[in-house]
Amino acid sequence: MTPPDPIPARPGEHHFDPLAEESFTSSHELYKELRGRCPVAHSETYGGFWALFRHRDVVGVLQDAETFTTSVQNVVPKFAFTGRRPPLHLDPPEHTDYRRVINRFFTKGRMAALEPAVRGHVARLVAGLVAAGEADVGPAYAQTMPAHVFAEFFHLPLELTARIEQISAEYVRAIQLVDDDEVKRGSRLLYGIAADVIAARRAEGTDPDEDLTAALLAAGLPDDMVLGCVRQLLVTGMVAPSVFIGTMLAHLAEHEDLQALLRAEPDRIPAAVEEYLRLFTPYRGMSRTARRDVVIGGRLIREGEPIALVYTSANRDEEIFENGEEFVLDRPNRVPRSRSVRASTPVRGPARPHDAADDAGGAARPHARFRGLRRDPHGPVGGVGHPLGPDAVHPGLNARVPRPPLSCIARRYVVSAARAAEKVKAWTGSRVVGGVRSR
Ligand code: HEM
Repeated sequence: MTPPDPIPARPGEHHFDPLAEESFTSSHELYKELRGRCPVAHSETYGGFWALFRHRDVVGVLQDAETFTTSVQNVVPKFAFTGRRPPLHLDPPEHTDYRRVINRFFTKGRMAALEPAVRGHVARLVAGLVAAGEADVGPAYAQTMPAHVFAEFFHLPLELTARIEQISAEYVRAIQLVDDDEVKRGSRLLYGIAADVIAARRAEGTDPDEDLTAALLAAGLPDDMVLGCVRQLLVTGMVAPSVFIGTMLAHLAEHEDLQALLRAEPDRIPAAVEEYLRLFTPYRGMSRTARRDVVIGGRLIREGEPIALVYTSANRDEEIFENGEEFVLDRPNRVPRSRSVRASTPVRGPARPHDAADDAGGAARPHARFRGLRRDPHGPVGGVGHPLGPDAVHPGLNARVPRPPLSCIARRYVVSAARAAEKVKAWTGSRVVGGVRSR
């Protein structure tokens, strides 16, 4: 039987409203429903865009750079264009020139070399929490720890990474609000910092084997693109980890049995991190643009039409992940995941399980010094149902000013990291405490 002709977007076709109000769980519920009813959905918002909700469709697009470009817009909605930033804004083969250099700094060996310094920072931060007796782990840890790590990784002073983190927060927040002027202002500041870092590396004659910026400079790549690349790394290196760590802590605070298990069997922590990445995908999604007419799920997507890839939905797709809405430690199929296809997320968890030698005095295993994370029983409990819905699973802990939820899913595709910032800050600030007492 001949398959029916693929159907282009009909005038006014609108399967979901990205501007609709959300609760903590509503977008997951909506995505689940759309995966079954309308996995290739169209929305009229933002001038019209497609959204893919199934794992196989998302992965199919990510694996086909010839048909789907990332250079037109990598988020929905398209926002102020503040310059091309490799590698995210490029397609292969141009993209590969940058990834080849960057990937050298994310090998297992490099991560292992970084690990003692990271453990040192973690131990110090945790010691501070423990000494305080009680702390809001959002700002005090999730938001702070990645700045320490990035300072080590990128060879920057901590004060500078803390400032970058703050500017990034404001920048991402402006993206969420689609505030073009603020986006450009934040981006200019970040470009200025990137230019200073590059100038310093040139002046110091830093060894390209030792430093990522120096390696980019030594690779014979165009100056403006190296600038864009460093500028991009400054933001990406801290936003997702802050979001992700905050989410894990929030979930752990709700699941004391899991805390106890991971404390007793720390070699299971990497598997838990993997599962957290699946369940609480820190970016709601990115986008691509069709380079030619293409058929997905019986729908005709026209050349030039933007396509939001909803990672959050793909990573819970029951076709791939049984009980996809649940946290399941040691899933048999941890590997098929959309985000790894292109992004090959550089840092996913501890480089290796903790060994006994790490255990001296608990200094290298700071989690061992926690009595536990718990929700603050005196904090207000919002009327939002389950606390680990999308507003908690996309916390960008970098926002400074709590504000009411933005009712804009598509913006969150973009920046889940950013937008969610204040959300989780508000939430963790009132309900999750950490480092309650040392043992
Ligand atoms: C929890 C940790 C992280 C997660 C979940 C994460 C996730 C992602 C995702 C989903 C993308 C977009 C892929 C796309 O749609 O094209 C991305 C891109 C990127 N991220 Fe991360 N990221 C994390 C941490 C980091 C860190 C620590 C760095 C750098 C120090 C980093 C650097 C990058 C870069 C350079 C890109 C662009 C990659 C490319 O276009 O090839 N990320 N990340």
